[in-house]
Amino acid sequence: MKETESREKILAERICLVIGGGSIAPGWGIGRAISVLYACAGARVAVADLNLASAGETVDIIRSEGGVAEAFQVDVLDDASIARLVSDATSRLGAIDVLHNNVALSKSGNPRDTSAADWRRIQDANVTSLHVSTQAVLPGMMERRRGVILTTSSIAAHRHLGYSSLAYAATKAAAIAFTRTLAIDYAAFGIRANTIVAGLIDTPRIGVVLRGAYAGCSLEEMKERRHKVVPLGRMGTAWDIAEAALFLASDRAKYITGAELVVDGGLSVTVPH
Ligand SMILES: NC(=O)c1ccc[n+]([C@@H]2O[C@H](COP(=O)([O-])OP(=O)(O)OC[C@H]3O[C@@H](n4cnc5c(N)ncnc54)[C@H](O)[C@@H]3O)[C@@H](O)[C@H]2O)c1
Repeated sequence: MKETESREKILAERICLVIGGGSIAPGWGIGRAISVLYACAGARVAVADLNLASAGETVDIIRSEGGVAEAFQVDVLDDASIARLVSDATSRLGAIDVLHNNVALSKSGNPRDTSAADWRRIQDANVTSLHVSTQAVLPGMMERRRGVILTTSSIAAHRHLGYSSLAYAATKAAAIAFTRTLAIDYAAFGIRANTIVAGLIDTPRIGVVLRGAYAGCSLEEMKERRHKVVPLGRMGTAWDIAEAALFLASDRAKYITGAELVVDGGLSVTVPH
C-alpha cells in the first residue's frame, strides 16, 4: 500500500489507542487510516470499535504490513466499557501514550426534528466519551509526564454544512473547547491535546449517514457536489486526516498544544459561489 511505504518510525516505542478505529462500512474510515499510519510509524496500536470485526480488519491490515496491533470492542455510550478498554489495552500493549478519540454519531436535523433522546445519545457518544476516556488515561500519562490526546472534530463546529446537523455540530464544537481546556490544564505534565478539524472527507460513512441530506442525488452525484465546493478540487481522504493525526501524535508537534489543525482543502476560508 503506497500510503504505508517507507515511513520514518516517529512513533517508535509508543502505544496508541484509537477509539473508533474500524469503519462504518467496508473501506477506509478515518480511524482505520489513522490506526494504520500510527502502526507504520512504529507504534503498537490498540484498535477499538463497537464493531469488533471492523477493528479486527484494521488489525489484519496492520499485521500484513508488519506492524503490531490488537483489536478491542468498546461502546462509547457505556462509561464502564471505556474504562475496561483502557485497562485491557494497557495490560495487553502497555501504558497508553496517545489517545485518539475518533467516534462520532450524527443525525441530520434541525431543533424541531432532533428529539431530546437523540440529542443526549449524540452528546454522550461524541462528548461525554471524550471526558471518560481522558479520565481513564490521564493518571498514567501524568505519572510518566508525557501523553497526547487527539480528537477528530469537523468544520461543522465552525459553520453550517448546507444541511442541518444540529446535535452533531454542537458536539464537534464542544470537542474543541474540551481539548483546549485539557491542553492548558495538563501542559505542565507534558501532556499535549489537539483537535483535527476535518472538512468534507470521502469515507464510507458519507454513503451511510448523509444520503438524506443530499436527497434525490445518487452516491456519485453527492460525491461530485462535495468535490466541487472544495477549493483544492476534491474531498479529503481518510489518509489526509491520518497524516495530520500522525504529525500531531508525534514529537514533531512537541510545541503544539490546544490547537485545531484544519484539514479541509481550503473549504472553511472560502465563500462558495
Ligand atoms: N467523513 C467525513 O466527511 C468527516 C468529516 C469531518 C469529520 N469527520 C469525523 O471523523 C470521524 C470518523 O469519521 P468516518 O467518516 O471515518 O466515520 P465512521 O463512521 O466510519 O467511523 C466511526 C467509527 O466509530 C464506530 N462507532 C460507532 N458507534 C460506536 C460506539 N458506540 N462505540 C464505539 N465505536 C463506535 C463505527 O463502527 C466506526 O468504525 C468522526 O468523528 C467524524 O465526525 C468525518
